[in-house]
Amino acid sequence: MKTILVTGGAGFIGSNFIRFAFEKAGFKGRIVNLDKLTYAGNPENLADIARKYKGRYVFQKGDICDFKLLGGLFKKYDLSLVVHFAAESHVDRSIFGPKDFIETNIHGTFALLETARQAWAGRKDVRFHHVSTDEVYGSLGRTGKFKETTPYDPRSPYSASKASSDHLARAYAHTYGLPVTISNCSNNYGPFHFPEKLIPLAILNALEGKSLPVYGDGLQVRDWLYVADHCAAIWKIANKGRAGETYNVGGNCEMKNIDVVKGICAALERAVPARYNKALGGKKYTDLITYVKDRAGHDRRYAIDFSKIEKELGWQPSVRFAEGLGRTVDWYLANPAWVNNVKTGAYRNWLKKNYSAK
Ligand code: NAD
Ligand code: TYD
Repeated sequence: MKTILVTGGAGFIGSNFIRFAFEKAGFKGRIVNLDKLTYAGNPENLADIARKYKGRYVFQKGDICDFKLLGGLFKKYDLSLVVHFAAESHVDRSIFGPKDFIETNIHGTFALLETARQAWAGRKDVRFHHVSTDEVYGSLGRTGKFKETTPYDPRSPYSASKASSDHLARAYAHTYGLPVTISNCSNNYGPFHFPEKLIPLAILNALEGKSLPVYGDGLQVRDWLYVADHCAAIWKIANKGRAGETYNVGGNCEMKNIDVVKGICAALERAVPARYNKALGGKKYTDLITYVKDRAGHDRRYAIDFSKIEKELGWQPSVRFAEGLGRTVDWYLANPAWVNNVKTGAYRNWLKKNYSAK
């Protein structure tokens, strides 16, 4: 049976990816999900998948920096594909405390690459896919897009740690011939997104009548991609992409932050009109928008040229922003228990009960 090691599979994109592999891509083998369950990791994201694919879905709590654990997993499962998501992923947190970013994103990626190199010993029928971000390329002016050949210019501790991990992955491909692929993707949104990032934070704050913080002038531009489209791109690259290559992945959806927040207000107004939402006390959703102090070193604009993956692998984004945002709002409204558990940290009790022995 083919076995995939997914790291960070209890987080936002990783859990969507595991769901995608079993439910959409028709994967018939086994997935081992290695996750340390930091504040952002939540096995509840995959509770239904764990039940439905018992025996083919294996959860392993652990740290990607742990060489012994990694070596054991490679031996036990005869892995033929690694899809590496595990990371510290929030720019604001990296500004206030970079240490975990250096440890997990750099040392952890090194530990995985080195273990794979030793375990696979020159095999070419295997693949290590490293999931990264467009933020490694730095910040754009009004025009232009990031290409795979754009020089790296990371500017936050988060993006610097991801850039470093990309360099290591590329070095392992070049020096040792490890069959590595890398994807650099723009901002994702969708179900299971931890509510510290802009879109889920704004949705949940607005529903509770809390302020919607917009950093600086709100005119920074991000390119948004619905998470299922990102998962489809990763699946294609990991299975069909050329070893040693990097692929940019984007949503063709550049938006100013303030317009994203206004879009969230409009989507909420459709789903839960403000006049029926008691938490607003007669206000409109847009009345909650509050300009706050800018993020230190805030990158101004990101935009992605994804023509390489389009031409080579026939991938394109398929979900338009208004549709994806509507689906995302509906998902948060339909999952109050998940929201409550994440916000109160109650899932940690569930975690202790279910995973304390491992
Ligand atoms: P996330 O923060 O939601 O999830 C990260 C997961 O990694 C969590 O489950 C966490 O418990 C786990 N983890 C953290 N440290 C670990 C360690 N030392 N060992 C094992 N597991 C550990 O992040 P996400 O938004 O799902 O991002 C996943 C990946 O995609 C990251 O590599 C990120 O850089 C990249 N990425 C994210 C976006 C985005 O918009 N969110 C865009 C492009 C690329
Ligand atoms: P975020 O979701 O943190 O992703 P990233 O920093 O990886 O792009 O932020 C998206 C954009 O929204 C970014 O320009 C920062 C901005 N932002 C706000 O204006 N207010 C907020 O409360 C947050 C979390 C982000």
